[in-house]
Amino acid sequence: MARPNILVTRSIPDEAKRLLAKHCDIEQYDKHAAIPRPLFLKMLKDKDGLLCILTEKVNQETLDAAPRLKAVATYSVGYDHIDVKACGARKIAVMNTPGVLTETTADFAWSLLMAAARRVVEGDRFMRAGKYKAWDPMMLLGCDVFGKTIGIVGFGRIGQAVARRAAGFGMKIIYFDAQRIFPEVEREFGVHFRELKDLLREADFITLHCVLDAATHHLIDEDALSLMKPSAVLVNTARGPIVDERALVKALKSKRIAAAGLDVYELEPKMASGLSKLSNVVLAPHLASASLETRTKMGVMAAQGLIDVLANKKMPAHPVNPEVCQVLLAEA
Ligand code: GLV
Repeated sequence: MARPNILVTRSIPDEAKRLLAKHCDIEQYDKHAAIPRPLFLKMLKDKDGLLCILTEKVNQETLDAAPRLKAVATYSVGYDHIDVKACGARKIAVMNTPGVLTETTADFAWSLLMAAARRVVEGDRFMRAGKYKAWDPMMLLGCDVFGKTIGIVGFGRIGQAVARRAAGFGMKIIYFDAQRIFPEVEREFGVHFRELKDLLREADFITLHCVLDAATHHLIDEDALSLMKPSAVLVNTARGPIVDERALVKALKSKRIAAAGLDVYELEPKMASGLSKLSNVVLAPHLASASLETRTKMGVMAAQGLIDVLANKKMPAHPVNPEVCQVLLAEA
């Protein structure tokens, strides 16, 4: 049986590449930059599988350029960059990397929350600029985290991992999700459901963990920001377009809200005009899952999914479209 031909669009950890290479022939764009779109489409022409990241749009145009494509594994839990329906229509299996990045992402949401609340980055800049001359009771005052109210928007795996950490800070935990969890589970987590508007009014810290789709695009817009407390801190480690970034810049500039911690951007990697000039925002380049351990696990998981579908002809562990995988495998 011929070995499957795979396109890998970025440098990935050695362990994942070694695993993939045991079963597949690999062509790789291994630069630390996004693959140019025309090259991406050209390289896909003769590929059976694709291991991509979230900067590669897998849409109708992509599929038209890849007549042999049977499986797509994204090196991410989010798959809003993939047209899953269009893949299904062509019997292409889609896989993602859930679970392995949950705790790492929750840790990072907390890093941003703490850094924004306690002005860690401003303090770092202050030190490096040689401005620290004497301890000052009124210098760089932030806000307490312990005992406050955290509002978690999206109560899936990552939102729940954030909630577990919040319990350790003695916080009141409120959440909003399109699907309310069972009351027994709410009790187990010690969380309380709120409608979104109520959550925005009540929370001291608002952290986003929902998927990006038509319902959540600009969920946090000017109106939503206007409901928040002036002392509120907003954290986004989910997807940039969930927040209207221009409205956020206005709210931060006018101190309508106190601070924000952002890992994702509406037009990533670009930032809205004025954002980087503000001192009350902590900015990170989409690092939430970026620990060596987790990025290795994600790479191995994505590689294994492709191997399962294309070489082992078996159901992958993390299909986004299991019904399509079933049909594809039945025909293999
Ligand atoms: C990263 O943003 C992911 O979806 O894994």
